[in-house]
Amino acid sequence: MLNLGILISGRGSNMESILKSIRKKKIPINPAVVISNKSDAKGLIIAKKLGINIEVVESKGFKNRWEYDKKIISTLSKYGVSQKNGLVCLAGFMRIISPQFVKKYKNRIINIHPAILPAFPGLNSQKQALEYGVKYSGCTVHFVDTGMDTGPIIIQAIVKIKEDDTESTLSKRILKEEHRIYPEAIDLVARKKIKVLGRKTIIS
Ligand code: GRF
Repeated sequence: MLNLGILISGRGSNMESILKSIRKKKIPINPAVVISNKSDAKGLIIAKKLGINIEVVESKGFKNRWEYDKKIISTLSKYGVSQKNGLVCLAGFMRIISPQFVKKYKNRIINIHPAILPAFPGLNSQKQALEYGVKYSGCTVHFVDTGMDTGPIIIQAIVKIKEDDTESTLSKRILKEEHRIYPEAIDLVARKKIKVLGRKTIIS
């Protein structure tokens, strides 16, 4: 069974939905550790209540990304979240991962993004979608590669945009879908049902 490490920076609602789904839906993965780069992340309180190990690896004061990521990797390793036996989920982790980390954990890091990639990568995707005037947006779970929200896509969910949507109302409806598809994607990885072929994922 794979060991799961979840990286957060704030609210932690995706983390919560992942941890609860692992229990409820019997996803065959061991929830090993939640790591936050911020000691005041609200998600840490939820994680504690759910009984998972928590760690804070403060990101202030590092020379470069790799120096920081080495600390993250050693914390992950402490809980068995290795390149071979681990899966790392970014769940609102507000940092760009170094290429060294991505290469070391090739196809072992996944992320959730609140838009239908490749549209609206980066920050404030819901706002970008509304400003662009698209009729549909949604969310994407994807493997992390060295680009910004560019890795092979695992699952996407569509959300219809309403004429009176604000950033907040749209974000809420997208978040509901995020909470559904992130655990689904983890289940697929845990059951080794995903093959990555270049940019594509083949799901069996
Ligand atoms: C989510 O919208 C996720 O798609 C994005 O950051 C947000 C994190 O929310 N990457 P939460 O911390 O999981 O509640």
